[in-house]
This record gives sequence, C-alpha cells and structure tokens, in this order.
Amino acid sequence: GTVLGIEGTAWNLSAAIVNENDVIAEVSDMYRPPTGGIHPREAAQHHAKYASYVVRGVLEEAKKNGVDASQIDAISFSQGPGLGACLRTVATAARMLAISLDVPLVGVNHCLAHVEVGRWKTPATDPVTLYVSGANSQVLAYRMGRYRVFGETLDIGLGNAFDKFARSAGLGHPGGPQIEQFARNAANYIPLPYVVKGMDLSFSGLSTAATEALKKHSMEDVCYSFQETAFAMVVEVTERALAHTGKNEVLLAGGVGANMRLREMLEIMCTERGASFYVPEKRFMGDNGAMIAYLGLLMYDSGNVIDVENSHVNPNFRPDEVDVTWLSEDLE
Ligand code: ATP
Ligand code: FE2
Repeated sequence: GTVLGIEGTAWNLSAAIVNENDVIAEVSDMYRPPTGGIHPREAAQHHAKYASYVVRGVLEEAKKNGVDASQIDAISFSQGPGLGACLRTVATAARMLAISLDVPLVGVNHCLAHVEVGRWKTPATDPVTLYVSGANSQVLAYRMGRYRVFGETLDIGLGNAFDKFARSAGLGHPGGPQIEQFARNAANYIPLPYVVKGMDLSFSGLSTAATEALKKHSMEDVCYSFQETAFAMVVEVTERALAHTGKNEVLLAGGVGANMRLREMLEIMCTERGASFYVPEKRFMGDNGAMIAYLGLLMYDSGNVIDVENSHVNPNFRPDEVDVTWLSEDLE
C-alpha cells in the first residue's frame, strides 16, 4: 500500500508519502516562534497557511519518484497527543484530502508513530522505547495487544524542562543543544533534585533548581549537572522497564534523543544488561511526517480506518488506548 500522512501536533508541519519499502517523499515546514515561547494559536495558523504547500509539495515530489496521487490508498494524520488548535487544523486538511481522493482516513497516535518508525528504520523488533521530546517523556513497550506506558513524566517533558531553563538563563531556543554544548566543558557536578516516583518522572522542580543553581555556579557546571541528573532518571526507568518486561532491546525516540551524552548513558546501561541499543537516523527521531504515514500504512493494512464523522482529535490521546491491530499477539 501507499499512504500519505500529515504530522502537526506542535511546531513542525510535515507531510510524507510512504510504502512498505521506503519513504517516497517528505515535505516539512517548521513554525519558528519569534520569542521561543509557547504560542499554540500561532502554530495552528502557521499550519493552516502552509498545509496546501506541504501537501502539494509532497505530491509533486512523489510524482518525480514515480508515484501518482491516484496510487494513494489512504490518508493518515496525527490524532494526538498535541496542541488542540494544531491538531484540529491538520485533521481538517487530512479529512478534505481523504474526501477529494476518495480514500479512507486513518487516525494515528503520535507517540506510537515514533515507536513504529524506529522499529522500521532500525533492527529493533520488540524494544522498550524511551520517547523523550519537548512535550513528551514516556517509556513504552508492547504487551498483550497494546503498547503499555511503563513510566512517564508527571509534569513537563524533558525537552521543555531544558527549554524552560534555557529561557530563564537567557539562552536561545531550543535549549537542549546549547545545554549539551555547555555541559562538555564542565568541571564540577552539583547535586540537583532527582525525582523518580515509582516508574514516573518529574522534571519541573529540577529545571527550577537548575535555574536557581546558576546564582552560585557556572553555566557549564549547571548544564552538566542538569543533564546528568535528568538522564540518570530516564535511564533508571528504562532499565527497570527492561527488567520488568524481560525484553532485550532499547529504542530511543524524540528530539532529546539527539543528545550524545544521553545515548552514551543508555548504551552503557544496555551493554551492562546484555541488551541491544538502537537509535534511528536523526530525520526519524524528531517529529516527522514519515512516521505518521508509516503507522498509517500499518493501520490501513490491518483494517484500522475511521469515518470522517468519527475523526475527532484528542489532545490527551494516550498510546495505551490504541488497539494494536498491526502486530501479532505473539510478538512478545
Ligand atoms: P513533541 O510534540 O513530540 O513533544 P517537539 O515539538 O518537542 O515534539 P522534537 O523535535 O521531538 O519536537 O523535540 C524538540 C526538543 O528536543 C526541544 O525541547 C529541544 O530542546 C530538545 N533537543 C533537541 N536537541 C537536543 C539535544 N542535543 N540535547 C537535548 N535536548 C535536545
Ligand atoms: Fe513527537
């Protein structure tokens, strides 16, 4: 099959066309907030303005690669989680496209799309996934027909914790890459609040404490200590999910996954446990249209389509609400 998918849960608007073999075309346009602050309505206006540009662009690019609009079997879109105004804008575009091409519509859970594109583009088969982005931080794994959430943040996502700190420290947006740079030149580790509650995480207090620590310590030392603390927290929960599920693969997903120190810490943990560690190419780690098109394809192939009348978005859409029709029960 061939599916056109649209992602637009947050800042990145991206359309892609995929088939079982590969990504045939992808066209994206990122909304860049002028101040780095959160402006959901402006992001939604951006998506409305550029929806025709990314859709037309991806259809043209696919045509150059030998795939015509008439070959598209279904339209998929991010149904959630994400910013309500952005989700509604993208859903509207997807519905119109499905109606005009007269093909089925597929509503995709954004978190599961990160997992499935990672399984597609790495050798991982049945991993524990650590998904860490701006708004999301979750540890996911498949078990008996569902992807279960083994641990997650109780407040903000890890990327947002970095960005919040960066903003109050007068650094630009996004904060993650700059924090990683500063951390490389640190001399001392400063203890900061390490908050793991059961299997869940909290980053809000840590971000505030890091800002507070800047009064007494260098930017380098604070960035290093912030990273070490936050990454130790997510690695701990990932390791416990491995132990609990008995799985032996870890997959990294989300924009924070670009961080080399996080990768190194996960790699060490996996080596110690005899598990394999997988990181997809960067284009498949942050939010991208290809992952929405690909999970759309898996769902379409397994008959998991929706009517336009029942295609409402869900800003709090949880991955464990999804009946996993595209995997056989015996995966585990
Ligand atoms: P989502 O809707 O899935 O939450 P998002 O809009 O936050 O996605 P992503 O590209 O997945 O987009 O992630 C962006 C986040 O990743 C930002 O918070 C940014 O600070 C963080 N980030 C990017 N590069 C790095 C890095 N090298 N180290 C740490 N964090 C990083
Ligand atoms: Fe994401």
